[in-house]
Amino acid sequence: MDADKAGFCVIRIRPCLKNRGRNVIQIPIDLIQLLRAAKHIAVLTGAGVSAESGVPTFRDAQTGLWAKYRPEDLASPDAFRRNPRLVWDWYAWRRDIVDRVKPNAGHYALAEMARHVSSFTLITQNVDGFHQQAGSENVVELHGNLRRVKCFREEVVIDEWLDAGEVPPRCPRCGDHLRPDVVWFGERLPPAALQAAIDAAAVCDVFFSIGTSGLVEPAASLPRVAMEHGAKVIEINPTITPLTPLVSFALSGPSGVVLPALVQAAWPSR
Ligand code: APR
Repeated sequence: MDADKAGFCVIRIRPCLKNRGRNVIQIPIDLIQLLRAAKHIAVLTGAGVSAESGVPTFRDAQTGLWAKYRPEDLASPDAFRRNPRLVWDWYAWRRDIVDRVKPNAGHYALAEMARHVSSFTLITQNVDGFHQQAGSENVVELHGNLRRVKCFREEVVIDEWLDAGEVPPRCPRCGDHLRPDVVWFGERLPPAALQAAIDAAAVCDVFFSIGTSGLVEPAASLPRVAMEHGAKVIEINPTITPLTPLVSFALSGPSGVVLPALVQAAWPSR
């Protein structure tokens, strides 16, 4: 790590395609000081954080066999009522993709960041479970988790069921179908998760928005909640979003490259 005269800390990185061949990242010294002084950091992640692992976004996943369906035909309560097998199979296919790839350096850097701050809240819109796999704890899942299933009627999460060959399988409690524990079109976000996210945004002193387009509500409002309560907001994204002009620091680049550099700059390992 080098500090240059212009108020940046220069972190050397391995040049690669996803980082457009850059071999250094410049992190503002002011940002490093902000992170070191932070008492509560809240982080909101979106599909971009898992992009480098090879997890397609919801819309990108509608390829091949699935391209002919509209999102509402694969991810809504009505779609499940009409054709539970189709919806189950689509999620089984997505789960299979996630099972074949791994968390990336961005996920691990966030787990590491949590170890340096007295209070840390990780809020995700992703349903792949990669933050937990990378070691993050108490993750606030706004859109559920692909790897969990719940009863369609009672909405109770179910860990075990009898495999009688039926697709989707039946709830061992009430006999209705099991469904993925994710938030579908037209459904409310889990109230406790949403409240935890709003609370964290309101009390944190630093809020990160990482790998999210900031277009899908209510998650998109969280950085604004943080700003209204006086937090500094930092964005990490290779492209400009509606949030970019409003933030205190916008770090342009893939999160799998920028996050490890940021953690290294703020809390250098010996
Ligand atoms: N690192 C960081 N950000 C990235 C990267 C990367 N390597 N690659 C892409 N991005 C950014 C894109 O520039 C974009 O701004 O990630 C963002 C992804 O945006 P969306 O696909 O809209 O994903 P997200 O914001 O998570 O969408 C929210 O919408 O599709 C539904 O339920 C789905 O949870 C999802 C929700």
